[in-house]
This record gives sequence, structure tokens and C-alpha cells, in this order.
Amino acid sequence: MTLIRRTPLIAGNWKMYKTEEQAEDYIQALLPRVSATAGVDVALCVPFTDLRAMIDSARGSRVEVYAQNMHEEPEGAFTGEVSAPMLRELDVRGVVLGHSERRGMFGETDKALALKVPAALAAGLAPILCVGETEQERDNDDTDRKLRQQIKEDLAAVPGERLADVVIAYEPIWAIGTGRVATPEQAQEAIAFIRALVADRDEHAAERVRILYGGSVKPENAAELLALTDVDGALVGGASLEAEPFAAIVAAAARPSTTATGPSPTR
Ligand code: 13P
Repeated sequence: MTLIRRTPLIAGNWKMYKTEEQAEDYIQALLPRVSATAGVDVALCVPFTDLRAMIDSARGSRVEVYAQNMHEEPEGAFTGEVSAPMLRELDVRGVVLGHSERRGMFGETDKALALKVPAALAAGLAPILCVGETEQERDNDDTDRKLRQQIKEDLAAVPGERLADVVIAYEPIWAIGTGRVATPEQAQEAIAFIRALVADRDEHAAERVRILYGGSVKPENAAELLALTDVDGALVGGASLEAEPFAAIVAAAARPSTTATGPSPTR
């Protein structure tokens, strides 16, 4: 098996926080703090109302701007919804799909996600598909079953050759916003299991697909989680709301710049 180096992704999920003005202040504080970090992709998943301002302010920087949801249809009579082509036209880079808050509070189903993930890819958006178990499911030894069901159903319509274009975020629901982070063993085990599920579909895709951990990631625990073999980054909620801790998590994921190892330029 060839060793594939996956570029880590640190994505901040702001959820329903920040007006446009607050978002502007934040990005101005963040950009200088992450401009020198190499070998890591950085994304901010922001409310719809912040998208245009964030895209304008982050243009030309290393920060990519993502949305937090979209409808599966390109257009139609779906009051209050936003489509993938609408996001693409704004230069939005990707979209969070199936966050447990949307599944739990807004009735997002695996059936809808099975349509949303391919619709995002078809429109040129990078989907971050969230999966994860409740505390009760973990206590009942139901974690593998839940993850298998979500991965199988949500990615059913994505062809093997496009599977690696999806980012998967493993977010155990009991670790979200609770300060109770998964242990490194729990995170590695679940994420390796998800990678094995992708391998059942396509081995090559499993080597390339990026799988993030999410749930109470902070500057203090980021390095340990990000060092795990199968963990390719983090989806960060609370700690992404201030530029400083978010930049510290980005720094924890940074890899030494590969250009530094090349031959010295002739002067
Ligand atoms: P917290 O980092 O606040 O636990 O949130 C995680 C999350 O839901 C990211 O999508």
C-alpha cells in the first residue's frame, strides 16, 4: 500500500453565531495569525448572512469559506432553503452536511443526506459530512452500527471515484459543546472504523479521504487528537468563535513546509 499524505483540515463551525460586523472583526484578527502556517487547510463554516463578507475578506488568503447547510434541489418552492448553485455562485468552497444539531433539531434524515452529498459534489462544493453516536448508543455498544448506517446511507449515491472528495467529520454527540472530549483511543478507533467502511466501498478512496474529529476540540487537546494516525483534522465549534484559540488549533495541525526541504535557490 502506498503511503498517502493527507493534508489536515481545520474547520471552524460557527453555528448560529456572529453578525456580519462581528464576522468582519474576527476575520481581520484571524488572517495574520494563520498566514504563516503551512501544510494545513483552514475553513470557516459560517451563517448564510456572513458568506459574502467572509468570502470577500478571505479572498487570496489560506482561509476557505463554507456554508452550514443546503437543500438538495438546485431550485424550487422550498421556502427558507438555499441551494448548492446559489452557494457556488458566491464562491463558497464547501458545506457542512448532516451536523447532529440539524439531524436532532431540524429533522435532517439520512435519506435527505443521500441526496444532499451528491448534489453538493455535482455543484462543485466540498461536503463535510458529519456522523456520530449519542451517549446512549455508545453505552449500548451501538456506535459501530450507527456509524455504519450513516456512512452507508449518506454516501450511497456517491460513486467510488468521488468518495475521497467528501470530508467526513466524526462528531460523537456526547462530546459536542460539553467539554467532554473523546479519548484519543475512542477517536482513533471510531475514525479507523469509518475509514474501513469507506474501504469496503473503495480502497483507494479510503486512503485519500479526510476524516476529522469534532467535539470539544480546544487548543489544549488539539495536538494529541491531531497526532492520531487516522485523524486528518478537526471540526471545531466553541473554540472557533475567537481568532486566538482557533489559530492555536490550526498551528497544532501545521506540518513543516515541504518547500523548505527543496534545493536552495541560486543567488
Ligand atoms: P464544540 O467544539 O463546541 O464541542 O462543537 C463541535 C461541533 O459541533 C462542531 O461542528
